[in-house]
Amino acid sequence: MKRILVTGSVGQIGSELTMFLRDRYGADNVVAGGRKTKPSEELKNSGPFEIVDCTDIEAVRKVVDKYDIGTIYHLAALLSAVAEGNPQLAWNVNVNGLINVLEVAREHNCSVFTPSSIGAFGHSTPLDNTPQDTIQRPGTMYGITKVSGELLCDYYYQKYGVDTRGVRYPGIISYVTPPGGGTTDYAVEIFYEAIKKKKYTCYIKEGTKLDMMYMPDALKAAVDLMEADAKNLKHRNAFNVSAMSFAPEEIAAEVKKIIPEFTMDYDVDPLRQGIAESWPNYMDDSAAREEWGWKPEYNLSEMSKDMVEKLRIKLGN
Ligand SMILES: NC(=O)c1ccc[n+]([C@@H]2O[C@H](COP(=O)([O-])OP(=O)(O)OC[C@H]3O[C@@H](n4cnc5c(N)ncnc54)[C@H](O)[C@@H]3O)[C@@H](O)[C@H]2O)c1
Repeated sequence: MKRILVTGSVGQIGSELTMFLRDRYGADNVVAGGRKTKPSEELKNSGPFEIVDCTDIEAVRKVVDKYDIGTIYHLAALLSAVAEGNPQLAWNVNVNGLINVLEVAREHNCSVFTPSSIGAFGHSTPLDNTPQDTIQRPGTMYGITKVSGELLCDYYYQKYGVDTRGVRYPGIISYVTPPGGGTTDYAVEIFYEAIKKKKYTCYIKEGTKLDMMYMPDALKAAVDLMEADAKNLKHRNAFNVSAMSFAPEEIAAEVKKIIPEFTMDYDVDPLRQGIAESWPNYMDDSAAREEWGWKPEYNLSEMSKDMVEKLRIKLGN
């Protein structure tokens, strides 16, 4: 079997996806690509680790050559709130970095998985039951790079036959690696603070619904799509995938069921609130269900129970 490269492997999704892929396909077959952030001992010592800056095409080419890579899970990116702080860098990493990966994939006949995001939508998109194919006019640099990425992946498939695939992830909730500066980070922070301090100040306004997903489902989505029979795929990139949708007070109520002393108040951050209001309340993911059998396992209550249980162990509480 040809090997797998994960770019951005030290990040929230990459750190868990790399270990998941190593379990599934053999540790030596999965190369973790990092950049500045120090990898965990587990990530660094359980299989090959290489520094790969995706804005440097030679660096991408070198690692793909060296390990005879057949599939790239391209996770290196700047997330929504960070991207608003440095839009030019976000374009460079999210778009030029992706083109580099696609170019190397074209030369070396690699398959490529690239996540898009609920951030690829904007105010003019229908925000309830957001269709698979709809208006996409995002007002953030993150969203602009994500729509561009969706189109580039489609283009490389249509023009060059590169096997590109991808999903639009909602906010991802996990207990292993903290999130990297997105708008939905509150849905992770709330668990840490509930366990440590029994209270949390939320930067997103009451009533703001967003799509979210627990990490095990996010990993399953990536691998199921990459293993799906290509002949069943009508869409290849940017599949809507959803698992649960909630507003801050709903997740707070769920946490309170497990930690009765928990309380939450609000101190709204206008930047992230503005971004959240332009994103879907919940997406229609029927295309993913029909074309490759997408089915999430965790809802809000199951995810909350598991998060508290796992985080209590992690935090020694
Ligand atoms: N986490 C979420 O809630 C979420 C939701 C929707 C989509 N996504 C998408 O999933 C992917 C992974 O997200 P994540 O949450 O793991 O992000 P993250 O910020 O936790 O990790 C991204 C990693 O990319 C690295 N990176 C930055 N610039 C780089 C460069 N030039 N070359 C190589 N690596 C570089 C960062 O150091 C970081 O480790 C991204 O494409 C993101 O847009 C994430």
